[in-house]
Amino acid sequence: MSDGMTAPENKFSQTLAALGVTRPDQLAPLFAEIRARFDADATAAHDEATWKQFRDAWLGRKSGVLTQVTDNWLKPAPPELKRVVGQELNKLRAHVESEIEVRRLAIEAGADDAALARERVDLSLPGVKRPIGSHHLIRQVFQQIEDIFVSIGFSVVEGPEIETPYYNFEALNIPEFHPVRDDMDTFYLELPKGAPSPLLLRTHTSPMQIRTMEKRLPPVRVIVPGKVYRRDNPDATHSFAFHQVEGLAVDTDITFCDFTGTIEYFVKQFFGPGVKTRFRPSYFPFTEPSVEFDVTCVFCGGSGVSAGGGTCSKCKGAGWIELFGAGMVDPAVYGFVKYDPKKVSGFAFGIGIDRLAMLKYGIDDIQVFFQNDVRFLRQFP
Ligand code: PHE
Repeated sequence: MSDGMTAPENKFSQTLAALGVTRPDQLAPLFAEIRARFDADATAAHDEATWKQFRDAWLGRKSGVLTQVTDNWLKPAPPELKRVVGQELNKLRAHVESEIEVRRLAIEAGADDAALARERVDLSLPGVKRPIGSHHLIRQVFQQIEDIFVSIGFSVVEGPEIETPYYNFEALNIPEFHPVRDDMDTFYLELPKGAPSPLLLRTHTSPMQIRTMEKRLPPVRVIVPGKVYRRDNPDATHSFAFHQVEGLAVDTDITFCDFTGTIEYFVKQFFGPGVKTRFRPSYFPFTEPSVEFDVTCVFCGGSGVSAGGGTCSKCKGAGWIELFGAGMVDPAVYGFVKYDPKKVSGFAFGIGIDRLAMLKYGIDDIQVFFQNDVRFLRQFP
Protein backbone atom coordinates (compact mmCIF):
# COMPACT_ATOMS: atom_id res chain seq x y z
CA MET A 1 0.00 0.00 0.00
CA SER A 2 1.26 3.43 -0.78
CA ASP A 3 -0.43 5.29 2.08
CA GLY A 4 2.15 4.27 4.63
CA MET A 5 0.03 1.71 6.46
CA THR A 6 1.68 -1.56 7.30
CA ALA A 7 0.77 -3.85 4.49
CA PRO A 8 -2.43 -5.42 5.89
CA GLU A 9 -2.06 -8.65 3.94
CA ASN A 10 0.95 -9.39 6.07
CA LYS A 11 -1.22 -8.99 9.13
CA PHE A 12 -4.11 -11.24 8.28
CA SER A 13 -1.78 -13.94 7.03
CA GLN A 14 -0.39 -14.14 10.57
CA THR A 15 -2.04 -15.06 13.86
CA LEU A 16 -2.93 -12.48 16.48
CA ALA A 17 -0.28 -13.95 18.74
CA ALA A 18 2.35 -13.44 16.07
CA LEU A 19 1.19 -9.83 15.74
CA GLY A 20 1.57 -9.31 19.46
CA VAL A 21 -2.11 -8.74 20.04
CA THR A 22 -3.07 -9.94 23.48
CA ARG A 23 -5.74 -7.44 24.70
CA PRO A 24 -9.24 -6.93 23.27
CA ASP A 25 -8.69 -3.17 22.97
CA GLN A 26 -5.94 -3.77 20.39
CA LEU A 27 -8.47 -5.34 18.02
CA ALA A 28 -10.55 -2.32 16.94
CA PRO A 29 -7.62 -0.42 15.35
CA LEU A 30 -6.50 -3.59 13.63
CA PHE A 31 -9.90 -4.12 12.04
CA ALA A 32 -10.10 -0.39 11.20
CA GLU A 33 -6.91 -0.76 9.19
CA ILE A 34 -8.38 -3.58 7.16
CA ARG A 35 -11.58 -1.69 6.64
CA ALA A 36 -9.63 1.32 5.36
CA ARG A 37 -7.80 -0.96 2.95
CA PHE A 38 -11.13 -2.33 1.76
CA ASP A 39 -12.57 1.15 1.24
CA ALA A 40 -9.51 2.14 -0.77
CA ASP A 41 -9.74 -1.02 -2.89
CA ALA A 42 -13.42 -0.39 -3.58
CA THR A 43 -12.71 2.74 -5.61
CA ALA A 44 -10.81 0.64 -8.16
CA ALA A 45 -13.88 -1.47 -8.95
CA HIS A 46 -15.35 0.63 -11.76
CA ASP A 47 -16.62 -1.94 -14.23
CA GLU A 48 -17.79 -5.53 -14.23
CA ALA A 49 -14.34 -7.06 -14.59
CA THR A 50 -12.60 -5.03 -11.88
CA TRP A 51 -15.64 -5.48 -9.62
CA LYS A 52 -15.33 -9.28 -9.88
CA GLN A 53 -11.64 -9.17 -9.00
CA PHE A 54 -12.43 -6.95 -6.03
CA ARG A 55 -15.24 -9.23 -4.84
CA ASP A 56 -13.07 -12.35 -5.12
CA ALA A 57 -10.16 -10.69 -3.33
CA TRP A 58 -12.39 -9.97 -0.35
CA LEU A 59 -15.05 -12.67 -0.33
CA GLY A 60 -13.32 -15.52 -2.22
CA ARG A 61 -13.91 -18.74 -0.25
CA LYS A 62 -10.37 -20.06 -0.42
CA SER A 63 -8.11 -17.05 -0.03
CA GLY A 64 -10.33 -13.99 0.21
CA VAL A 65 -9.38 -11.54 2.97
CA LEU A 66 -12.34 -12.49 5.14
CA THR A 67 -11.48 -16.18 4.90
CA GLN A 68 -7.90 -15.41 5.97
CA VAL A 69 -9.07 -13.32 8.90
CA THR A 70 -11.33 -16.14 9.96
CA ASP A 71 -8.62 -18.79 9.61
CA ASN A 72 -5.68 -16.83 11.04
CA TRP A 73 -7.24 -14.55 13.64
CA LEU A 74 -10.55 -15.97 14.76
CA LYS A 75 -9.99 -19.71 14.80
CA PRO A 76 -6.69 -19.73 16.70
CA ALA A 77 -7.64 -16.80 19.00
CA PRO A 78 -7.30 -17.35 22.72
CA PRO A 79 -10.65 -17.49 24.58
CA GLU A 80 -10.29 -13.97 26.04
CA LEU A 81 -10.05 -12.44 22.51
CA LYS A 82 -12.33 -14.73 20.55
CA ARG A 83 -15.63 -12.98 21.33
CA VAL A 84 -14.36 -9.54 20.30
CA VAL A 85 -12.61 -10.88 17.19
CA GLY A 86 -15.93 -12.51 16.24
CA GLN A 87 -17.84 -9.25 16.75
CA GLU A 88 -15.31 -7.19 14.77
CA LEU A 89 -15.23 -9.76 12.01
CA ASN A 90 -19.04 -9.72 11.76
CA LYS A 91 -19.05 -5.94 11.49
CA LEU A 92 -16.35 -6.06 8.83
CA ARG A 93 -18.20 -8.77 6.90
CA ALA A 94 -21.46 -6.79 6.94
CA HIS A 95 -19.63 -3.71 5.66
CA VAL A 96 -17.77 -5.64 2.96
CA GLU A 97 -20.87 -7.44 1.70
CA SER A 98 -23.07 -4.38 1.59
CA GLU A 99 -20.39 -2.23 -0.07
CA ILE A 100 -19.75 -4.84 -2.74
CA GLU A 101 -23.47 -4.97 -3.50
CA VAL A 102 -23.69 -1.17 -3.64
CA ARG A 103 -20.77 -1.16 -6.09
CA ARG A 104 -22.44 -3.78 -8.25
CA LEU A 105 -25.63 -1.75 -8.53
CA ALA A 106 -23.68 1.39 -9.33
CA ILE A 107 -21.73 -0.36 -12.10
CA GLU A 108 -24.91 -1.83 -13.57
CA ALA A 109 -26.63 1.53 -13.55
CA GLY A 110 -23.56 3.06 -15.16
CA ALA A 111 -23.62 0.40 -17.88
CA ASP A 112 -27.30 1.16 -18.48
CA ASP A 113 -26.58 4.86 -18.72
CA ALA A 114 -23.75 4.21 -21.15
CA ALA A 115 -26.01 2.01 -23.28
CA LEU A 116 -28.74 4.62 -23.20
CA ALA A 117 -26.30 7.30 -24.27
CA ARG A 118 -24.95 5.06 -27.01
CA GLU A 119 -28.40 4.13 -28.30
CA ARG A 120 -30.02 7.51 -27.90
CA VAL A 121 -32.22 8.36 -30.88
CA ASP A 122 -31.20 11.63 -32.42
CA LEU A 123 -34.46 13.11 -33.59
CA SER A 124 -32.65 15.81 -35.49
CA LEU A 125 -31.14 13.30 -37.95
CA PRO A 126 -32.87 12.96 -41.31
CA GLY A 127 -35.26 9.99 -41.29
CA VAL A 128 -35.09 6.80 -43.34
CA LYS A 129 -36.76 7.62 -46.63
CA ARG A 130 -38.99 4.82 -47.85
CA PRO A 131 -39.74 5.49 -51.50
CA ILE A 132 -43.41 5.47 -52.32
CA GLY A 133 -44.20 3.27 -55.29
CA SER A 134 -46.15 4.43 -58.28
CA HIS A 135 -48.83 2.87 -60.41
CA HIS A 136 -47.56 0.58 -63.12
CA LEU A 137 -47.80 2.16 -66.55
CA ILE A 138 -50.46 -0.37 -67.55
CA ARG A 139 -52.51 0.61 -64.51
CA GLN A 140 -52.06 4.28 -65.42
CA VAL A 141 -53.29 3.67 -68.96
CA PHE A 142 -56.28 1.71 -67.62
CA GLN A 143 -57.06 4.73 -65.47
CA GLN A 144 -56.81 7.17 -68.39
CA ILE A 145 -59.16 5.02 -70.46
CA GLU A 146 -61.59 4.57 -67.59
CA ASP A 147 -61.66 8.33 -66.99
CA ILE A 148 -62.46 9.05 -70.64
CA PHE A 149 -65.28 6.54 -70.85
CA VAL A 150 -66.70 7.34 -67.42
CA SER A 151 -66.91 11.00 -68.53
CA ILE A 152 -69.29 9.99 -71.33
CA GLY A 153 -71.58 7.81 -69.26
CA PHE A 154 -69.93 4.39 -69.17
CA SER A 155 -69.45 2.51 -65.92
CA VAL A 156 -66.61 0.15 -65.04
CA VAL A 157 -67.21 -3.55 -64.33
CA GLU A 158 -64.78 -6.39 -63.83
CA GLY A 159 -65.07 -10.11 -64.40
CA PRO A 160 -63.35 -13.42 -63.69
CA GLU A 161 -60.06 -14.33 -65.35
CA ILE A 162 -61.04 -18.00 -65.19
CA GLU A 163 -64.00 -18.58 -67.51
CA THR A 164 -66.17 -21.33 -68.88
CA PRO A 165 -66.08 -22.05 -72.62
CA TYR A 166 -69.71 -20.93 -72.67
CA TYR A 167 -68.91 -17.34 -71.77
CA ASN A 168 -65.55 -17.18 -73.49
CA PHE A 169 -66.80 -18.72 -76.76
CA GLU A 170 -70.29 -20.16 -77.22
CA ALA A 171 -72.38 -17.24 -76.02
CA LEU A 172 -70.19 -15.00 -78.17
CA ASN A 173 -71.34 -16.91 -81.19
CA ILE A 174 -68.20 -19.05 -81.39
CA PRO A 175 -69.45 -22.66 -81.42
CA GLU A 176 -67.19 -25.53 -80.50
CA PHE A 177 -65.78 -26.28 -83.93
CA HIS A 178 -65.62 -22.71 -85.22
CA PRO A 179 -62.18 -22.15 -86.79
CA VAL A 180 -61.68 -18.85 -84.95
CA ARG A 181 -61.15 -20.85 -81.76
CA ASP A 182 -57.79 -21.93 -83.15
CA ASP A 183 -56.56 -18.34 -82.93
CA MET A 184 -57.68 -17.97 -79.37
CA ASP A 185 -57.42 -21.43 -77.89
CA THR A 186 -55.79 -21.04 -74.60
CA PHE A 187 -54.87 -22.47 -71.26
CA TYR A 188 -57.39 -24.93 -69.89
CA LEU A 189 -57.35 -25.77 -66.22
CA GLU A 190 -56.74 -29.32 -65.07
CA LEU A 191 -59.88 -30.19 -63.17
CA PRO A 192 -60.89 -33.23 -61.15
CA LYS A 193 -62.92 -35.85 -63.03
CA GLY A 194 -66.63 -35.06 -63.06
CA ALA A 195 -66.18 -31.27 -62.89
CA PRO A 196 -69.35 -29.66 -64.28
CA SER A 197 -67.61 -27.66 -67.00
CA PRO A 198 -64.12 -27.23 -68.38
CA LEU A 199 -62.47 -23.98 -67.28
CA LEU A 200 -59.97 -21.80 -69.12
CA LEU A 201 -58.10 -18.56 -68.71
CA ARG A 202 -60.18 -16.04 -70.64
CA THR A 203 -58.72 -15.15 -74.03
CA HIS A 204 -60.42 -11.75 -74.10
CA THR A 205 -62.62 -9.55 -71.93
CA SER A 206 -65.61 -10.15 -74.23
CA PRO A 207 -67.19 -12.77 -71.90
CA MET A 208 -68.14 -9.80 -69.73
CA GLN A 209 -70.40 -8.61 -72.54
CA ILE A 210 -72.50 -11.70 -71.89
CA ARG A 211 -72.26 -11.62 -68.11
CA THR A 212 -73.29 -7.95 -68.09
CA MET A 213 -76.24 -8.38 -70.44
CA GLU A 214 -77.43 -11.42 -68.46
CA LYS A 215 -77.66 -9.22 -65.37
CA ARG A 216 -78.89 -5.91 -66.79
CA LEU A 217 -81.54 -4.78 -69.16
CA PRO A 218 -80.72 -2.13 -71.76
CA PRO A 219 -79.53 0.59 -71.72
CA VAL A 220 -76.08 -0.88 -71.02
CA ARG A 221 -72.89 1.15 -71.15
CA VAL A 222 -69.90 -0.57 -69.56
CA ILE A 223 -66.20 -0.91 -69.97
CA VAL A 224 -64.29 -3.89 -68.61
CA PRO A 225 -60.59 -3.52 -67.83
CA GLY A 226 -58.75 -6.76 -67.19
CA LYS A 227 -56.08 -9.37 -67.85
CA VAL A 228 -56.42 -11.90 -70.63
CA TYR A 229 -54.38 -14.95 -71.66
CA ARG A 230 -53.41 -16.58 -74.93
CA ARG A 231 -51.15 -19.37 -76.04
CA ASP A 232 -48.72 -16.89 -77.62
CA ASN A 233 -44.98 -17.20 -77.60
CA PRO A 234 -43.37 -14.17 -76.02
CA ASP A 235 -41.67 -11.68 -78.33
CA ALA A 236 -41.56 -7.89 -78.66
CA THR A 237 -45.29 -7.67 -79.38
CA HIS A 238 -46.69 -10.87 -77.85
CA SER A 239 -47.13 -12.11 -74.34
CA PHE A 240 -49.14 -15.02 -72.92
CA ALA A 241 -50.78 -12.53 -70.58
CA PHE A 242 -51.83 -9.05 -71.58
CA HIS A 243 -54.50 -6.45 -70.90
CA GLN A 244 -57.71 -5.35 -72.54
CA VAL A 245 -60.51 -2.92 -71.99
CA GLU A 246 -63.78 -4.23 -73.34
CA GLY A 247 -66.52 -1.77 -74.17
CA LEU A 248 -70.22 -2.44 -74.67
CA ALA A 249 -73.10 -0.09 -75.34
CA VAL A 250 -76.57 -1.48 -76.00
CA ASP A 251 -79.81 0.50 -76.21
CA THR A 252 -82.91 0.80 -78.36
CA ASP A 253 -81.47 3.35 -80.76
CA ILE A 254 -77.73 2.96 -81.06
CA THR A 255 -76.43 3.45 -84.59
CA PHE A 256 -73.17 2.89 -86.40
CA CYS A 257 -72.64 6.67 -86.15
CA ASP A 258 -72.84 6.56 -82.34
CA PHE A 259 -70.29 3.80 -82.53
CA THR A 260 -67.71 5.56 -84.70
CA GLY A 261 -68.31 8.86 -82.92
CA THR A 262 -67.65 7.30 -79.53
CA ILE A 263 -64.49 5.58 -80.71
CA GLU A 264 -63.22 8.74 -82.37
CA TYR A 265 -63.89 10.76 -79.25
CA PHE A 266 -61.98 8.26 -77.17
CA VAL A 267 -58.99 8.07 -79.51
CA LYS A 268 -58.66 11.86 -79.68
CA GLN A 269 -58.94 12.18 -75.92
CA PHE A 270 -56.32 9.50 -75.46
CA PHE A 271 -53.75 10.42 -78.13
CA GLY A 272 -54.55 14.11 -78.57
CA PRO A 273 -56.74 16.10 -80.95
CA GLY A 274 -54.20 15.88 -83.80
CA VAL A 275 -54.82 12.20 -84.63
CA LYS A 276 -57.27 10.95 -87.21
CA THR A 277 -59.08 7.64 -87.14
CA ARG A 278 -60.34 5.30 -89.81
CA PHE A 279 -61.95 1.90 -89.80
CA ARG A 280 -61.61 -1.05 -92.08
CA PRO A 281 -63.87 -4.08 -92.44
CA SER A 282 -62.83 -7.00 -90.28
CA TYR A 283 -64.34 -10.11 -88.78
CA PHE A 284 -65.37 -11.16 -85.30
CA PRO A 285 -68.05 -13.80 -84.70
CA PHE A 286 -69.82 -11.62 -82.13
CA THR A 287 -70.00 -8.35 -84.10
CA GLU A 288 -71.62 -7.60 -87.42
CA PRO A 289 -70.38 -5.58 -89.15
CA SER A 290 -66.92 -5.83 -87.61
CA VAL A 291 -64.19 -3.27 -88.01
CA GLU A 292 -60.56 -2.69 -87.20
CA PHE A 293 -59.85 0.85 -86.00
CA ASP A 294 -56.69 2.55 -87.19
CA VAL A 295 -55.16 5.78 -85.98
CA THR A 296 -52.74 8.04 -87.82
CA CYS A 297 -49.22 7.07 -86.80
CA VAL A 298 -48.38 8.90 -83.58
CA PHE A 299 -44.66 8.80 -84.44
CA CYS A 300 -44.64 10.38 -87.91
CA GLY A 301 -47.93 12.25 -87.64
CA GLY A 302 -49.41 10.11 -90.39
CA SER A 303 -46.89 11.16 -93.03
CA GLY A 304 -45.12 7.80 -93.16
CA VAL A 305 -41.82 9.67 -93.05
CA SER A 306 -39.60 9.66 -89.97
CA ALA A 307 -38.02 12.79 -88.48
CA GLY A 308 -34.72 11.87 -90.14
CA GLY A 309 -36.39 11.78 -93.57
CA GLY A 310 -36.52 7.97 -93.97
CA THR A 311 -39.49 5.67 -93.84
CA CYS A 312 -41.21 5.74 -90.43
CA SER A 313 -40.23 2.45 -88.80
CA LYS A 314 -43.32 2.34 -86.56
CA CYS A 315 -45.98 2.40 -89.28
CA LYS A 316 -43.62 1.14 -91.99
CA GLY A 317 -44.43 4.16 -94.10
CA ALA A 318 -48.20 3.52 -94.08
CA GLY A 319 -49.02 6.54 -91.90
CA TRP A 320 -51.62 4.43 -90.09
CA ILE A 321 -51.40 2.13 -87.12
CA GLU A 322 -53.89 -0.63 -86.38
CA LEU A 323 -55.47 0.07 -82.98
CA PHE A 324 -58.19 -2.40 -82.05
CA GLY A 325 -61.15 -4.51 -83.08
CA ALA A 326 -64.77 -3.52 -82.70
CA GLY A 327 -68.18 -3.72 -84.30
CA MET A 328 -71.94 -3.63 -83.93
CA VAL A 329 -73.10 -6.42 -81.60
CA ASP A 330 -74.13 -9.42 -83.70
CA PRO A 331 -77.89 -10.04 -83.26
CA ALA A 332 -77.08 -13.71 -82.62
CA VAL A 333 -75.43 -12.68 -79.35
CA TYR A 334 -78.65 -11.10 -78.08
CA GLY A 335 -80.26 -14.52 -78.38
CA PHE A 336 -77.92 -15.84 -75.66
CA VAL A 337 -78.89 -13.14 -73.19
CA LYS A 338 -82.61 -12.96 -73.98
CA TYR A 339 -82.51 -9.48 -75.45
CA ASP A 340 -84.85 -8.90 -78.37
CA PRO A 341 -82.61 -8.31 -81.43
CA LYS A 342 -85.48 -6.51 -83.14
CA LYS A 343 -85.65 -3.93 -80.38
CA VAL A 344 -82.03 -3.35 -79.34
CA SER A 345 -78.79 -2.50 -81.06
CA GLY A 346 -75.33 -1.68 -79.83
CA PHE A 347 -71.61 -1.75 -80.33
CA ALA A 348 -68.64 -3.40 -78.70
CA PHE A 349 -64.91 -2.91 -78.80
CA GLY A 350 -61.85 -4.58 -77.36
CA ILE A 351 -58.83 -2.37 -76.80
CA GLY A 352 -55.42 -3.95 -76.29
CA ILE A 353 -53.94 -1.89 -73.48
CA ASP A 354 -50.34 -2.99 -73.80
CA ARG A 355 -50.33 -2.01 -77.47
CA LEU A 356 -51.95 1.33 -76.73
CA ALA A 357 -49.45 2.09 -73.96
CA MET A 358 -46.56 1.14 -76.26
CA LEU A 359 -47.82 3.51 -78.94
CA LYS A 360 -48.50 6.39 -76.58
CA TYR A 361 -45.22 6.15 -74.69
CA GLY A 362 -42.92 4.95 -77.48
CA ILE A 363 -42.15 1.56 -75.91
CA ASP A 364 -40.96 -1.06 -78.37
CA ASP A 365 -41.02 -4.24 -76.28
CA ILE A 366 -44.14 -5.51 -74.53
CA GLN A 367 -42.01 -7.66 -72.21
CA VAL A 368 -40.91 -4.63 -70.18
CA PHE A 369 -44.42 -4.43 -68.74
CA PHE A 370 -43.95 -7.79 -67.07
CA GLN A 371 -40.30 -7.65 -66.04
CA ASN A 372 -40.88 -4.95 -63.43
CA ASP A 373 -37.39 -3.55 -63.75
CA VAL A 374 -37.46 -0.44 -61.57
CA ARG A 375 -35.36 1.46 -64.12
CA PHE A 376 -38.33 1.13 -66.46
CA LEU A 377 -41.01 1.70 -63.82
CA ARG A 378 -39.33 4.87 -62.52
CA GLN A 379 -39.74 6.50 -65.91
CA PHE A 380 -43.49 6.56 -65.33
CA PRO A 381 -43.94 7.94 -61.82
N1 PHE B 1 -62.44 -9.75 -78.19
C1 PHE B 1 -61.79 -9.34 -79.39
C2 PHE B 1 -60.31 -9.76 -79.30
O1 PHE B 1 -59.84 -9.98 -78.22
C3 PHE B 1 -61.86 -7.86 -79.60
C4 PHE B 1 -63.25 -7.36 -79.84
C5 PHE B 1 -64.02 -6.97 -78.77
C6 PHE B 1 -63.77 -7.26 -81.11
C7 PHE B 1 -65.30 -6.51 -78.96
C8 PHE B 1 -65.03 -6.78 -81.32
C9 PHE B 1 -65.79 -6.41 -80.26
O2 PHE B 1 -59.63 -9.84 -80.29
